[in-house]
Amino acid sequence: MQQVIIDCDPGIDDALALEFAIKSKELEVLAITVVAGNAPVDIGVENTFKVLERCDRLDIPVYRGAEIPLERPNVSAQDTHGMDGFGESGIVRQSKVQPQKETAEEFLTNFFSEKRDVGILALGPLTNIALAIQLNPKLGQNIQRFVTMGGTYKSHGNCSPVAEYNYWCDPDAAKMVYESLGSTIEMVGLDVTREIVFSPAILEYCRRINPEAYEYLRKLTRFYFDFHWQYEHLLGCVINDPLAVACYISSEICNGFDSYVEVETQGISIGQTLVDRYDFWQKEPNARILETVDTKEFFTQFLTVLLDAPEATIASDLNLLKLG
Ligand code: RIB
Ligand code: CA
Repeated sequence: MQQVIIDCDPGIDDALALEFAIKSKELEVLAITVVAGNAPVDIGVENTFKVLERCDRLDIPVYRGAEIPLERPNVSAQDTHGMDGFGESGIVRQSKVQPQKETAEEFLTNFFSEKRDVGILALGPLTNIALAIQLNPKLGQNIQRFVTMGGTYKSHGNCSPVAEYNYWCDPDAAKMVYESLGSTIEMVGLDVTREIVFSPAILEYCRRINPEAYEYLRKLTRFYFDFHWQYEHLLGCVINDPLAVACYISSEICNGFDSYVEVETQGISIGQTLVDRYDFWQKEPNARILETVDTKEFFTQFLTVLLDAPEATIASDLNLLKLG
């Protein structure tokens, strides 16, 4: 079982990713740090508690992080995730549990002040991570792994022709992390996450296997389905963050290559990840860029956990469904 700290900006796909990670038998989620991104940070904290309550894991500590990016004003993605960051689903929480007193960056700095067999799974803008590196420059050497949902190599952007939201929202933080983390970054970018389409057929399949989970998923994703139809004429929704969880659980679910990556922080292509695959700049690789994904294996793992169903059932049923 791998121990992990999740930094996130819940957000609909973050919420699915958190439930996947928390309920997975392969991961132990030690703590959750929240960053402004899809929604303001306090809404992200609230949504984190909604997921912990659903998973009956309010024992997992939550740390409130950055309200704004390092340099730029925060541009939320509430047009995509709803004003409540939870698909305007009406899903609320009963508990009154509050975040810890330490800020996210203080927690990350202190926790990784020494080497740990614990990794970080970053599902939002990298502001908290960058702030922690500023406080503790050795952070990168003390973590076991760093997996980030963000960036894109060949796939078009989702915030501009070339930029993916997490790195576009806080390009200065992303640049700092890629320049100074000091350990290999596993970049789960749009090249692979765009293959992960939670479709109406898959949602209908959920209804057959676990009606309670279906009802929750239907409420949570309706807004996201509407956004994808309106802006991409896609039936269903791309669930980016759960793929980063799956990559953390079993890295072979995606294939890729090592490369030097730089993040643009200025001008028309701000937030773009420049992947120097053919080594023009002659710099040591700082990242592993994931380029292909086993979509069926992802949905087998994801639905087994979220529907609390036997893996063999899900695996054989998925042969009947058209995925992606
Ligand atoms: O670009 C997709 C990413 O931005 C996902 O992590 C989504 O939750 C948003 O944070
Ligand atoms: Ca996210």
